Amino acid sequence: MSGALDGQTALVTGGSRGIGLAIAQVLASDGARVAIVDIDEDGAASAAARLEGSGHAGYLCDVGDPRQCSTTVAAVAKAQGVVTILINNAGITRDNLLLRMKDEDWDSVIKVNLTGAFNMTRAACRGMMKRRSGSIVNISSVIGLMGNAGQTNYGASKAGLVGLTKSVARELAKRGVRCNAVAPGYIATDMTADLDERTTRELGTRIPMGRLGEPSDVADVARFLAGPEARYITGQVLAVDGGMAM
Ligand code: NAI
Repeated sequence: MSGALDGQTALVTGGSRGIGLAIAQVLASDGARVAIVDIDEDGAASAAARLEGSGHAGYLCDVGDPRQCSTTVAAVAKAQGVVTILINNAGITRDNLLLRMKDEDWDSVIKVNLTGAFNMTRAACRGMMKRRSGSIVNISSVIGLMGNAGQTNYGASKAGLVGLTKSVARELAKRGVRCNAVAPGYIATDMTADLDERTTRELGTRIPMGRLGEPSDVADVARFLAGPEARYITGQVLAVDGGMAM
């Protein structure tokens, strides 16, 4: 099999399902060796086994733990090659109104969504800098751009990812490493599966294109930003939201 990403090793956090899995699938079908990193060990292993091509693997890792991130990046480098594409996709929600939000709900969302991306980026960038080649894609959200009632923790974490993206882009540009973000709108995954029919219908009216997105809508854009077609693009945030945040 030959593809535009032949010879590259891609690490996708939260890649067992949803958007992360869709990203892992497009990267693998373009020839990358994919490392699926997730707190769901069985999910990561079975997702990796089902990817197109060979040389993929799953890893148990909580992105909120800096030590687990560095040992995972080292294990991937040893087994699959130095990570040249990093997709910081792992994310959680713990929604509540501001006055009802518990400290642990604030802390856990910031830890996974924002600190997790920092932990992984710091762990993986050394190898990229040595090679003078690498691409990092952070999965932010339109909520980080627009805000949303009941999501102060999530909105702050996703806005933080935008600042992280731009700062990493500036810091590593001369070392051949690019860093961009995708800001999805409402995408049909387990994360949004709990929305009732009325909310989904209402959401549809707020989305100019009139429908929720599919994981593949986000994956194709992440693949573009990760790959050679985006070689002169860094520090950008691309909304994939059917027109919601324009
Ligand atoms: P999902 O809930 O279906 O999948 C999230 C994955 O992350 C799961 O495999 C989960 O096990 C893994 N994960 C959770 N905590 C982790 C941790 N500490 N370490 C490693 N892995 C962990 O979510 P979905 O919808 O696929 O979302 C993926 C990303 O896209 C998230 O960052 C989310 O915030 C973002 N996003 C999703 C939108 C949506 O509408 N679904 C919209 C905008 C952004």
